[in-house]
Amino acid sequence: MPQIILAIETSCDETAAAILKDNIVLSNIISSQEFHSKYGGIVPELASRAHIDCIDEIANIAFKKAGVGVNDVDIVAATAGPGLIGSLLVGLNFAKAFAIANGTKFSADNHIDSHVYSPFIGRESIDFPFLSLVVSGGHTILILVSNYFAHQILGQAQDDAAGEAFDKVAKLLGLNYPGGPIIDKLAGDGNENFHEFPVSSVKDNIYDFSFSGIKTSVLYFLRRNYPNKNEDIPVKDICASFQKAVVNTLYEKTLRASENFKVKRIAVSGGVSANTALRDKFNELEKKGYEIFFPEIEYSTDNAAMVGYAAYLKNKYSAFDSEKSLHEPAFANFSNKQI
Ligand code: KG4
Ligand code: ZN
Repeated sequence: MPQIILAIETSCDETAAAILKDNIVLSNIISSQEFHSKYGGIVPELASRAHIDCIDEIANIAFKKAGVGVNDVDIVAATAGPGLIGSLLVGLNFAKAFAIANGTKFSADNHIDSHVYSPFIGRESIDFPFLSLVVSGGHTILILVSNYFAHQILGQAQDDAAGEAFDKVAKLLGLNYPGGPIIDKLAGDGNENFHEFPVSSVKDNIYDFSFSGIKTSVLYFLRRNYPNKNEDIPVKDICASFQKAVVNTLYEKTLRASENFKVKRIAVSGGVSANTALRDKFNELEKKGYEIFFPEIEYSTDNAAMVGYAAYLKNKYSAFDSEKSLHEPAFANFSNKQI
């Protein structure tokens, strides 16, 4: 029997609900809280309140669009962490209440797990092993995935995440929040060789990332070369040069892991995986016999379809303890098993 899955995602500033029939997405509804841009970043308390205001309506729209009723649901899944705690609790408690009221199974999903499998949404099964590069506003993680939910973290951001660096550099350039998509667009018309911004290396682990230094180097570059506010700053060239430095680092570390672990299957996900230059750079590898996977753009940034898909995979291929999940507090553990 196919399983109907209701999935909820409220870990940050998107209120999202999706309905899946097994691996197939029937609806994927996202309400983004645009008002944060006027504060230059997310205000957690306002985010939680906005989730409360619209979660009911977003879930209703998801049901309507999917042509599915409340009684049809077999599994309800929600992001249980990591994320903003107030925001997480809204979606998590909505989903738990739904599960208790309707007697459905409940799955608490880890947000990183959901991103890891998002490039495969729609597939009944996945080929292993693969390298997963999750690049979002909160995380930059390189993972060796040997089987469903058997993950070994090879490296991660030691300071700012890649998306965070995009957002902070955008702010330095006077651009809006979130900065990633804006920098992506402006960089398309800029000269990526305008200036070489250095990316710091991390001493202890070749697979770890550090992006806070590049943000500081953009800041000093601007102060040094454009000290007067009214000066014409070559924003497009700076965006292109900064983006090139970040993309190259992500690419080189992933490629090194691919060579060392002899894995030529690479899946890139998370908000930054929407980036045009990043996609182009990794996709080039297909000519060299690599298999490259990116999520569809609507599944790159936070969404509920990926939460539902992780629940589908967990239910079909891995351990799934509904009772335990229902009585666990927020934070669902990341499936990090040492291999
Ligand atoms: O995965 P996501 O929606 O939320 C988190 O889990 O953090 O990622 C959001 C991040 C933001 O930092 C945003 O600036 C970045 O993804 N982002 C991009 C692009 N689209 C979104 N960064 C670079 N290029 C893009 N096209
Ligand atoms: Zn995310």
